[in-house]
Amino acid sequence: MNGLVVPVATLGGPETDPAEIARYVVGEAVWAPSVHNTQPWWFSAGPSGLSLYADPTRQLPVADPAGREMLISCGAALFTARLALRAAGYAPRARILPDPARPLLVARLSWEPGPAGTEYERQLSARVRSRRAHRGGFEPLPLAPALLAVLRECAGRYGAVLRVVTDEGTRAALAGVVRAAERALELDSAHVRERTAWTTPPGSTRGDGVPATGYPARAERTFPDFPSPDFARGRGWGQPPLSIAPGRSAGVVCVLATGSDQPADWVNAGQALQRILLTCAACGVAVALHSQPFEVGWAGGLMGSRPGLCPQLLLRLGTTVQTGAGVRRPPASVLFTGDGEPSGPAGRRG
Ligand SMILES: Cc1cc2nc3c(=O)[nH]c(=O)nc-3n(C[C@H](O)[C@H](O)[C@H](O)COP(=O)(O)O)c2cc1C
Repeated sequence: MNGLVVPVATLGGPETDPAEIARYVVGEAVWAPSVHNTQPWWFSAGPSGLSLYADPTRQLPVADPAGREMLISCGAALFTARLALRAAGYAPRARILPDPARPLLVARLSWEPGPAGTEYERQLSARVRSRRAHRGGFEPLPLAPALLAVLRECAGRYGAVLRVVTDEGTRAALAGVVRAAERALELDSAHVRERTAWTTPPGSTRGDGVPATGYPARAERTFPDFPSPDFARGRGWGQPPLSIAPGRSAGVVCVLATGSDQPADWVNAGQALQRILLTCAACGVAVALHSQPFEVGWAGGLMGSRPGLCPQLLLRLGTTVQTGAGVRRPPASVLFTGDGEPSGPAGRRG
C-alpha cells in the first residue's frame, strides 16, 4: 500500500536504526483521522526523535480559520505516533506546544526502549489502518455501559471530557443544530467551494480528500436526524446505502469538550479523539463525527458550552456493517530529515 511500511516485528530493540523507527511511526500516524482528510501535518526526523508540524497549506481557511480542526487532526496523528511506539516496545516522551519560535511545531516526540506494549495498546494499534469514519445511521442496539465508561476515561487522560447525551430533548436539540449548520454550509458558496476541493471523484488516485468510498450515495436519515456533510452534491458519487430502512438510529450521541479553548487543548482533544475512535473500533463500534456546527459562527455556541467546558466535536457511536476504503498520502511525502527548522513540504496535494 505504502512504500514506507516497516514490519513492527523488526523493531523494539535498542539497536534499531532511529530512522527506521521514524519511518514506521510516520507510516502509522498518517492513518489518523483529519478534517476532510486534509492530513494537515508533516514530520521531521532527527537524532533526537520526531517533530510533528502542522501544515497550514492544508488548513481550511473558510471552515477553520483559527486552525482548531487542523490541530485536532494533528493531535490525532500525535496519539497514533505514540501508540505505534508503545506497541513496538518503546517508551515515548512527547513535548507539546507551544514553542514561540516555531508556532507550527505541534510536538516533539522522543523514545527509548520500554516495556512491551499492553494487549490493549496492541488491539488499538491493530485498528489504526482499518478504522473508518462512519456517515449514516446505526443498528438500534445499546452500547455496553462499560464501554462508555472506558471512553470517558480515554477523554480524561488528555484533560478532555466526553459528555454522553442521554436526554431525548437535548439529543433532538443537538440534531437540530447540526441540521441548521449543514444547511448554512450548503448555502455558503465559499464553504461549498472549499468542501468541493477536498472531495475526490470516484476512481481518483489522489491520496487525500474525502473519497467516494467514504460516504453513502444516498444520505441515510437518522432519528433524530444528524445529516453528514453533503460531499456528493447531487453528482451520484458514494457507496450503495448500507440499509434501505428509512430512519436508522442516530446511536449514542456524545460531545467531546475541553476545559479551555487554546491550541494545546485542540491538540489534546485530537489525542483523546483518536484514543476514543480506536477503542470503539477495537470493540466493533463505529463512530460518526460532526464538526458542521463549529464551522458556522453562530452554531458552535449552541453546542452546550459553559465556563470550563468548550465543545470541540460531536460524535455518534453505534454498530453498523461498515465498508469503505481509506486513502492517505504516502508517508514519504510527509517525512523530512533534519532536526533544525526544515523547509517542510511544498504544500502539494495528492
Ligand atoms: C477535526 C475533525 C473534524 C471532522 N469533521 C467531520 C464531519 O463533520 N463530518 C464527517 O463526516 N467527518 C468528519 N471528520 C472525519 C474525517 O472526514 C475523516 O477522518 C477523514 O475523511 C479520513 O477518513 P477516515 O477517518 O475514515 O480514515 C472529521 C475529522 C476530524 C479529525
